[in-house]
Amino acid sequence: MISIREIDPADLALFDEWYDAFRAGAVAGREAPLVEGREALGYSLRNPGPLKTRCAVGAFEDDRVLGAMLFEYRLADNLDTVEVEIDVPPEHRRRGIGRALWQWAVTRASQLGRTIVQTELGVPADPWPGAAFASQLGFAVEHVEEHLVVPLPYDDLLLEDLRSAAGRLDGYRLTSWAGVCPSEYRQEYADLRTAMDRDVPTGGMTREVLPWTVEKLETSEARVDRNYLALVTMAHTLDGAPAGYTLIFLPRADAEHAQQDDTLVLREHRGHNLGTFLKLANLAQLAEHRTTQRFLHTWTALTNAPMRKVNARFGFRAVEQNRELELELPRLRPAARGVIVDSDDQVLLVRFEFADGPVWATPGGGLEAGETMLEGLRRELIEEVGLKDFPDPLHLWHEEHVAEGHATGYDGVLNDYFLVRTDHFTPGGSLSAAELRDENVHAVRWWSLAELAAHDGRFAPPDLPDLLHKLIQSGTPGTPAELGT
Ligand SMILES: CC(C)(COP(=O)(O)OP(=O)(O)OC[C@H]1O[C@@H](n2cnc3c(N)ncnc32)[C@H](O)[C@@H]1OP(=O)(O)O)[C@@H](O)C(=O)NCCC(=O)NCCS
Repeated sequence: MISIREIDPADLALFDEWYDAFRAGAVAGREAPLVEGREALGYSLRNPGPLKTRCAVGAFEDDRVLGAMLFEYRLADNLDTVEVEIDVPPEHRRRGIGRALWQWAVTRASQLGRTIVQTELGVPADPWPGAAFASQLGFAVEHVEEHLVVPLPYDDLLLEDLRSAAGRLDGYRLTSWAGVCPSEYRQEYADLRTAMDRDVPTGGMTREVLPWTVEKLETSEARVDRNYLALVTMAHTLDGAPAGYTLIFLPRADAEHAQQDDTLVLREHRGHNLGTFLKLANLAQLAEHRTTQRFLHTWTALTNAPMRKVNARFGFRAVEQNRELELELPRLRPAARGVIVDSDDQVLLVRFEFADGPVWATPGGGLEAGETMLEGLRRELIEEVGLKDFPDPLHLWHEEHVAEGHATGYDGVLNDYFLVRTDHFTPGGSLSAAELRDENVHAVRWWSLAELAAHDGRFAPPDLPDLLHKLIQSGTPGTPAELGT
């Protein structure tokens, strides 16, 4: 049985195993995949910054990691959004592991009150597993870029040709640096980074752009500098006004890959070949600082014809598409529920009284902020039926139920059900009868399968008797089964 849980990145052996799965899933079948390095990713997970939370989530079977997800969300902007990357190594695919990781993401996003999920895919050819998977989950492609590479060391002859074709740069001067931005340029560089964020095409992706401040730039560069040497060339007019910049990241621990990141020429300075001059100057820096890296990567929107022309001139070759995808979730209230089964296969249910009548359902309830599913389950079961001290239960079912009126302020409910096998006990929760009634709980009792089948009242989920019958006859599913929609 697969179980999904967040890993502690300070557990280095576990992080390594998680990273191996993450990387193996991400690189499979791709000619030139660029995956965040082990050191850089490990560092950022172990040292959370003020701008973003990142969680490493694993799909475990018998304590082995068979699939990996990076789940992240920004803390100062884009407060409705989370980003996910799910990677399953080829030998473990098509067993529902990707979907089980996705269910965890939906529950955590709902708990955070975030409704926009974004992801990126490297797609070298169609059909492609990641594209089929994402479309199955309901993601829509909102933006497409070409992912291009050029071999390193950069071809000196090509560089020479480009330099002589470009001629002399008139009306501008260039300044280059390696590492963090020199203090005298920080305000200008922050403004250019803001202009870049505003200018870069992102298709239909939801993106809130907050301006870069010097403080944010310093915080961000201090973190990035631990794992990447930034190579920057900036253009100024002769009277000192900033006109554009280009940025290459040289990972300090990646022997293979370097990234040509942003290149921006401000609108009023376009048409002077400045993009080419900036890139030429930065490639000279790259030649000086490169160690072993063999590929320089870049990405350009399919719609960005001028930049694609520059890329081609610089010898870049497209290796795949980089697709950005987005999905909007309904606002669901996440709850953890216990399917409590005793040694005679009796099931413990609670009776909720709602305006439209009684419903028998599994005990459990809404997750509180910051609680994991299992923490929420343990708290609820103590409160409602007095059950404690049971080993971590199996995740049985995941139910996304969109319907009005189930939870005030939400579009519906999200129930994750866990199987708790236990000896028979007399239920008695820590909440008083009055407190339970406030939560609409009016009775608790054990049911045999025969009693369930014979009852003509309502259950939640509606087919609970059938589900329990199947569970007891056929055993647990390999990954959490999806109920309803
Ligand atoms: C995409 C990926 C995560 C899927 O992992 P997985 O464990 O095989 O996925 P699941 O078994 O949970 O598949 C769920 C559903 O997705 C669809 N799907 C997944 N892989 C598919 C494929 N190769 N072809 C067609 N449909 C596919 C199917 O509908 C599948 O349900 P089914 O098996 O019942 O038909 C895995 O292929 C991978 O790691 N790819 C590389 C990284 C990537 O592209 N990640 C996705 C972006 S977040």
